[in-house]
Parts: sequence; C-alpha cells; structure tokens
Amino acid sequence: MVNKLSLKIGMLFFFVILIIEGLLYFILYMNLAGERIEEIINNLLARGNTHSEVLEDNFEATTLEHVGLMESASEFVVIITDEAGKILVHSDPVQSEMTEVIERTNYDSIPSEGVVIEERWKDRQFIATDSPITINKEHRGHVFMFAHTNQVKRVLDHLSNQFLFIGIITVVLTIITIFILSRFITLPLMKIKRATEQLSEGNHFIGLHTERRDELGELAQAITSLSNDLDRLKNERNEFLASISHELRTPLTYMKGYADIVYSQALTDADLKEYISIIREETENLSILIKHLFELAKMDQHSFPIRREKVFLKQLVTSIVDLITPVLEKKDVALFVRCPNHISCYIDPNRFQQVLLNILDNANKYSVKGGEIKLEVKDSDRYIEIIVRDQGEGIPKTDLPYVFDRLYRVEKSRSRKNGGSGLGLAIAKEIVEAHDGIIQIYSEQDVGTKVIIKVPKGEVIEECTFNR
Ligand SMILES: Nc1ncnc2c1ncn2[C@@H]1O[C@H](COP(=O)(O)OP(=O)(O)OP(=O)(O)O)[C@@H](O)[C@H]1O
Ligand SMILES: [Mg+2]
Repeated sequence: MVNKLSLKIGMLFFFVILIIEGLLYFILYMNLAGERIEEIINNLLARGNTHSEVLEDNFEATTLEHVGLMESASEFVVIITDEAGKILVHSDPVQSEMTEVIERTNYDSIPSEGVVIEERWKDRQFIATDSPITINKEHRGHVFMFAHTNQVKRVLDHLSNQFLFIGIITVVLTIITIFILSRFITLPLMKIKRATEQLSEGNHFIGLHTERRDELGELAQAITSLSNDLDRLKNERNEFLASISHELRTPLTYMKGYADIVYSQALTDADLKEYISIIREETENLSILIKHLFELAKMDQHSFPIRREKVFLKQLVTSIVDLITPVLEKKDVALFVRCPNHISCYIDPNRFQQVLLNILDNANKYSVKGGEIKLEVKDSDRYIEIIVRDQGEGIPKTDLPYVFDRLYRVEKSRSRKNGGSGLGLAIAKEIVEAHDGIIQIYSEQDVGTKVIIKVPKGEVIEECTFNR
C-alpha cells in the first residue's frame, strides 16, 4: 500500500504543500497579529492623549471627574495623577499592577508627548500608556491609560480561529486536489502496468491509448511499439523455426532414405557410389547451413571477427571470378567485370569474398541459361561501390523488402532445385554493415536484379571485432 506510486506522489505533494502553506500562514498570522496589537496600543495612546489635551485646556476638578466618569463606562481604565504621581482620579479600582506602573514612572523627565509604558501583553494583565499634562510649559500631571490584555488575547483568539478554519479548508482542498492529480498521473500508469502484464502473459493486443501528448503518452506509445515488435519477433521466430526445421528435415530425409537403401538392398557398385555421393552432398549442405547459422549467431552476439586490411578490389574480384567461373560455365552464363586497377579500400577480404560469392551465386541461380551477369566496381571520394546486375527472373515487389531476412526465400515451397537456404543475403547484409557500409537490392520481375554495395574507403588498419 505504502509503495503505491499514487500514495507516494500524494504524500510528497501533501507534505511539501503543507510546509509551504504553513510557512505562508504563519508569516501572515504574525503580521496580522502584530498589526492588531499595534492598533489596540495606538488606540489606547490616542485616547490618553485626547484626555491630556482636554485637561491641558481645563485642569479642574470637574473636568478630572468627568474624564474618570467617561472611562468608567468604557473597557479602558484611566488614572490621572499630579506631577509627582499622586493619584487624583481613577475610573476603576486601582490594581496592584497599575500602582506598580505608576510608581515606576520617572517624574523628573517628562515626555513631550504620550508614550507606551507597558506593552508586554503576553505576561501582564494590562498594557499601559502615559500622556503628560503640560500647561504653559509647566508640568501638571499624567493621564495613565490601561487596557486589559484580555482584549488583545480575545482579538488574537478570534484571528487564530479564523486561521484554523481557513487552514482546515485549505488542507481539505489540498488533499482533494492532490488525490485528483495523483490519480490523473497514476491511472494511466496503472493501465500501462496492466498492459505490460498482459504482454508478459503473451497477449500482444494491449490496446493502450496513445493520444496523450505528454511523457505518459510517449510511454504508452513506446510500450505499444514494443508490443508490436514482440509480436513481430514472435511471428518471425515461428517462421524461422518452421523454415529451419524444413531446411534440416529435407537433407536428413534424403540421407536416411539413401542410407536405408544402401543398408537393406544389394546394389551394384555404380548405384552404391551414386547413393553414397548423394548422402555426402546432403551432409555437405547440412554442414554449410549449420555453419551459416552459427556465423549469424556470432554476429548477433557481436563476436564475429572482421579483420580489415588494404585490399585492391581488382585482386579480390579476380580471385572471386576464378572461383565462380566453373559454376557459371555449367549454365552458360557470361560474367562481365569492370574494375579499375587502382581502387582499394580497408575491408576484410575473406568476408567480402563470401558476400560477393553469394551475390554472384544468386545472380547465377536465378539467371536463365545463357544469361549475362555484370560486375562493376566504382569509387568516389569516400565510398567504393560494387554493383552486380543480372538478367534473371527478378524478385516480386512484395518479396523484395524481405530478401535480407534470415531464411527468407521467394519460393515458399523451399524447393531444392536451386538449393539455397535463404541465409546468404542476411549474412551479406550483416558483413557489409559491419564495415559501416550499406547493401541495397533493386529488382524487376522478368527483367533482372541489381545489388549495390557501398563501403567507406576508410583508413582503419587494426583488427576489429564485429560491431554494429
Ligand atoms: N539475383 C536474384 N534474382 C532473383 N531472386 C533473387 C536474387 N537474389 C536473391 N534472390 C531471392 O532472394 C532470396 C534470398 O536470397 P539468399 O541469398 O539470402 O538465399 P538463397 O540464395 O536462397 O540461399 P543461400 O544464399 O543461403 O544459399 C532467394 O531465395 C531468392 O528468392
Ligand atoms: Mg544466396
């Protein structure tokens, strides 16, 4: 429960906001309280000053009594003394704290106007002011005003209650807002969590809403595309397994069939030799297939060594032509090569031989008898380009995007007429890309196919491991 994101976010927000609000309310409260206390004190002082002004105009017993009478009806207390501190009039009973204040007053130094003489409202019963009575520059007496500190405390209590009320409302509103906000953030996360659970259970149609234009929307989009990728990978894996089992089963069926015949029947020497040679051929095919699969697996693990060196393309092409010519001759396919002597680049010659042999082998396999293949090598400042064109059957448009996929063959029956397993172009692509190059294929059915390889010339001499 405590680990729930909504709760964590909510609590974090709540405490942060609570601290901010508390601080702001505290400052506001202190300011307001200070203002209210000052207002009460000033009011008391102004009252005392008014009385002293009246008495300065008319310092008589009746006026003195009148002032005392007036304040006896109010919540304030007035005590009027003579210039030496002797009490002349008081509006209410004189309390000990009042006597103490009066006695404490220094009657030798007379303030020119009223002063606050007691403002410790927290500790005392009364706050007090002193307004001197001066007639014709002669010091005649003092008007002491007292206000009960209960008054101040009452005002502050009222203020505190108001703040408490507002504070509670604010906290409630904050909690509601945070609850809504955190749900707003966490609900989509919960949905995403459920979707990923579905994903791990193997259900790829997770139906996440990806319309949101914020980070959560992006996350939902990323997960949706991940689920599509997973789905694609799953299909690819199934197809791969189906193809691979077909590729393995066919030679094994042949081998077993012929081995059975050899084992169980009395054969002539010629038949025996033929059957054994078929078994050998199938074994050869099988080991090539396994070698290719193993190479691809190593490429996937980035542990496929690429040993680059300076290679003159002319030399490489010549050695490849020597290797492929006997195969081409069988089908009467002509190979035209154009490769300037000077072109060189830093590549792994063995790997490139493998690539070009496969491309030429494809061109030959899918060419008609007596067809033509052209191999051209060109260079620019940064790239060398190797182009192989044939006039064979071509590749249908719908298949073209997939020919670099592992085990992909246009011919779905995977007939053994042309013998390929559909790994050649996949390996070629990996090798070319390991050289930071690109491989492209263009084809038109019944017109022919063109394969273009572009590799940077580079200056890398050291040995490096396959690295995509
Ligand atoms: N020049 C081409 N003309 C027509 N189809 C081609 C050509 N090159 C490739 N293809 C098609 O692309 C598919 C994949 O080619 P790839 O070289 O990967 O496999 P393969 O030649 O069938 O088998 P492998 O190369 O493993 O022996 C081929 O099966 C073929 O259908
Ligand atoms: Mg091939």
